[in-house]
Amino acid sequence: MDQAKELRNLINNTQELNFKNTLNARVITVSSGKGGVGKSSFSVNLAIYLASLKKRVLIIDADFGLANIEVLLGVRPKYNFYHMIKGEKNISEIIVDTDYGIKLISGGNGLKELCNINNLEIKYFIEQFEYLDKIADIIIVDTGAGISPNVTNFLMASDENIIVTTPEPTSFTDAYTLIKIIKEKNKDINKIGIVINKADDKYEADRIFTKISHVCNKFLGIDIENMGYIASDLALIKAIKQQKPAIVIFPDSDFSKAIKSIGNRLLNQEEISIDNKGIKGFMQKVMNIFNK
Ligand SMILES: Nc1ncnc2c1ncn2[C@@H]1O[C@H](COP(=O)(O)OP(=O)(O)OP(=O)(O)O)[C@@H](O)[C@H]1O
Ligand SMILES: [Mg+2]
Repeated sequence: MDQAKELRNLINNTQELNFKNTLNARVITVSSGKGGVGKSSFSVNLAIYLASLKKRVLIIDADFGLANIEVLLGVRPKYNFYHMIKGEKNISEIIVDTDYGIKLISGGNGLKELCNINNLEIKYFIEQFEYLDKIADIIIVDTGAGISPNVTNFLMASDENIIVTTPEPTSFTDAYTLIKIIKEKNKDINKIGIVINKADDKYEADRIFTKISHVCNKFLGIDIENMGYIASDLALIKAIKQQKPAIVIFPDSDFSKAIKSIGNRLLNQEEISIDNKGIKGFMQKVMNIFNK
């Protein structure tokens, strides 16, 4: 091989390497209209499944209410967003490792400060997230329930949203209301997937999905995606009582099979995009919306 060609190959290979190293994390938000529909259980078990497939996964617990994720993972983060906003800790110091190969960051009481911080703090806060894009392939943001800005701001900032609902009318009408509010605030709504949890069977889940999809299409002009359904399963309840993830202790349960199927679907949809702004871009958008 002549020298020029060798050099060209070297440059091409290096460019490819750089390209791989600079890919940002894929950010997926998980939310719901009504509370208690299974968001945190879904997020934790999905994260662990994706990690078992060699993905580097991190969960951000952005629930303003109770810190369920910590309980589900059996960890107690000492520091959270609050300490980072105040400049007391940097992002690597608020990450908690778990026994299940995934990492966790708790929003904690720092989430309440997000609309309340000065420009210098905002800049520091956003800059910190660059580190997460380097250490994670997938970041799952568990946003909590409801239609308050604490939830909708995160959804509006995200390229990929998963909304969890159950077949109960109160749950799926609240899911619709959530989608409607985001659409009203943001004309270019991003991708929305629906997971129907605690369904009796596929028939019931499909029926509920069709209902939501129909109204979203007819009244909001948007297409939502059926990400799959999860049956009501005692295995999950047993696992929660033991404070262990169902996907680990009951990997063959209906619940775990459903999580795997949704996880595989997500991975099949993975697009390698250099335009993906990652978690840093996501937090930048969140902060812009909070501080409008
Ligand atoms: N597929 C399922 N089968 C059986 N029980 C379930 C299932 N999914 C969730 N649950 C039950 O619902 C409870 C609430 O789940 P989870 O805490 O994941 O909901 P959440 O949406 O995160 O709630 P919150 O809105 O309070 O954050 C669980 O403790 C469990 O008992
Ligand atoms: Mg929760």
